[in-house]
Amino acid sequence: MKRALTGYRPTGFLHLGHLHGVLKNMLKLQEEYECFFFVADWHALTTDYENPSRISEYTRSLVLDWLAAGISPQKSTIYRQSDLPEVAVLSLLFGMITPLGWLERNPTYKEQLRELKKRHLQTYGFLGYPVLQAADILIVLADVVPVGEDQVPHLELTREIARRFNSLYGEYFPEPEALLSSFPRVPGTDGRKMSKSYENAIFLNEEIEVIRQKVLNMFTDPKRIYKKDPGHPESCPVFNLHRFHTETETVKQIEQDCRNAIIGCRDCKKILAENIIKDVIPFQERRKMILNENPNIVDEVLEEGLRRVKPIANQVILEVENKMGLKA
Ligand code: TRP
Ligand code: SF4
Repeated sequence: MKRALTGYRPTGFLHLGHLHGVLKNMLKLQEEYECFFFVADWHALTTDYENPSRISEYTRSLVLDWLAAGISPQKSTIYRQSDLPEVAVLSLLFGMITPLGWLERNPTYKEQLRELKKRHLQTYGFLGYPVLQAADILIVLADVVPVGEDQVPHLELTREIARRFNSLYGEYFPEPEALLSSFPRVPGTDGRKMSKSYENAIFLNEEIEVIRQKVLNMFTDPKRIYKKDPGHPESCPVFNLHRFHTETETVKQIEQDCRNAIIGCRDCKKILAENIIKDVIPFQERRKMILNENPNIVDEVLEEGLRRVKPIANQVILEVENKMGLKA
């Protein structure tokens, strides 16, 4: 079986956007590859180093969310980046051979510098983000990395670093391939893409009553002011969220009734809220059950994952030092 690896930064709680994107992708991956899923807590530090106090809480919550979503610690190796210091060693060695220009030209880097204006990101760590990511990927000699569009440049850097290592010290690293996953655009309550930083997210662990309130307060078709105005469902975030939670027949009916000014927005939202709740409750119950059965589950899963990944990482570091002639 080919090896797949992906990491997730623990910078907040998961929301519906993650459910329809990353989580579904991970579940599918788990059946087709030998999977390594890790929590990239050092990567969370690159942007949140001024206030790291919640990273460990988000890490635990993330692992529990993975389990509740059906990621199996038997099938997949689940671990925390900072538990595996070999990653830092490899990142340091990669840092020696990575030209600054590669990092400075990275479009994701430039974009984030522009977008996250409020934070001071002129740091060594932030510039080196893709070097650390290359180490994450190559420490297990991954064959494929599932990525969204925005991560393609990072993966290209991983391949370049692998090539440079191989040409300097001899063939060793594979050039991991991007497995382009589609992340559907899930609208948030204001119609923009659902994102924690836009404050428009409905979280997976949100209280049921809060979900109802958030849905009832969602933006709708701005051209539809009164119920008698015909609506334009295609430009309504409520409608676009229905597509993810409501059965096709009902979605079609709503579409017609909205265009013909038969259904009111409040009723439409009520249907959506109940359907989201129906999707979220089993997830929340599984999460509770898993924790009830074993309050130490997260620690145990992380320990077991580490036990499995450690020998692989050790071996890679040995080989790397060998190739570089460091310990000759
Ligand atoms: N950069 C990824 C993100 O922002 C997280 C990540 C860190 C990652 N290391 C990785 C993803 C290695 C895939 C492989 O989502
Ligand atoms: Fe949107 Fe539903 Fe109102 Fe139509 S009826 S505008 S789909 S909220």
